[in-house]
Amino acid sequence: MADAVPVRLAVLVSGNGTNLQAFIDHIESHEINGRIACVVSNKRDAFALKRAEQYGIPTIVHESGAYADRRDYDAALVAILRNHDVQLIVLAGFMRILTDVMVDAFPHAIMNIHPALLPAFPGLHAQKQALDYGVRFAGCTVHFVDRGTDTGPIILQAVVPVFENDSEETLAARIQQEEHRIYPEAVRLFCAGKICVDGRRVRVSP
Ligand code: GAR
Repeated sequence: MADAVPVRLAVLVSGNGTNLQAFIDHIESHEINGRIACVVSNKRDAFALKRAEQYGIPTIVHESGAYADRRDYDAALVAILRNHDVQLIVLAGFMRILTDVMVDAFPHAIMNIHPALLPAFPGLHAQKQALDYGVRFAGCTVHFVDRGTDTGPIILQAVVPVFENDSEETLAARIQQEEHRIYPEAVRLFCAGKICVDGRRVRVSP
């Protein structure tokens, strides 16, 4: 049987791009049946853009300055993503909250990684929220994006311990190791057609 056509992905970034690198590595090693059609950054100086360029992946800088509001920005973003014919949009440290314009354009086709065990500690500075609260375990969550902030159906989660002497940085680093494991796994499952959303529940076929 011929191999399935790779799923066309867009990766949206704002910063370092270590999660982007994890996707690139898993695609290169054929673990993910996907192809990154474009990397979009809202920051011109994001290191993630350099990572993409090294692999010949098309990059687009989509800054907010030229747009009247967040919905206008998102309408232009939808056009970019449609032009690239993408089937899955992966938010990888993209530090903007999406409006209904984006979310409704790609139902159950936008994934996000959040550095906490949702529904605990949504929003900014999740690791600091976890330390301040005094939890013994933290982690990360891959979820589909809905109209709320970090509220969409959960695909995968991973747990890490919190140690007495943890700082925000040491905890973030421990969580990121797990991000680089479960985020590519969620994308792999999607690209293999193994994910189905049933209300709030995400079902993964064997
Ligand atoms: C990741 O640690 C991710 O959990 C976080 O941004 C980082 C991006 O790192 N995302 C959020 O906080 C979203 N609310 P990366 O650029 O090295 O992939």
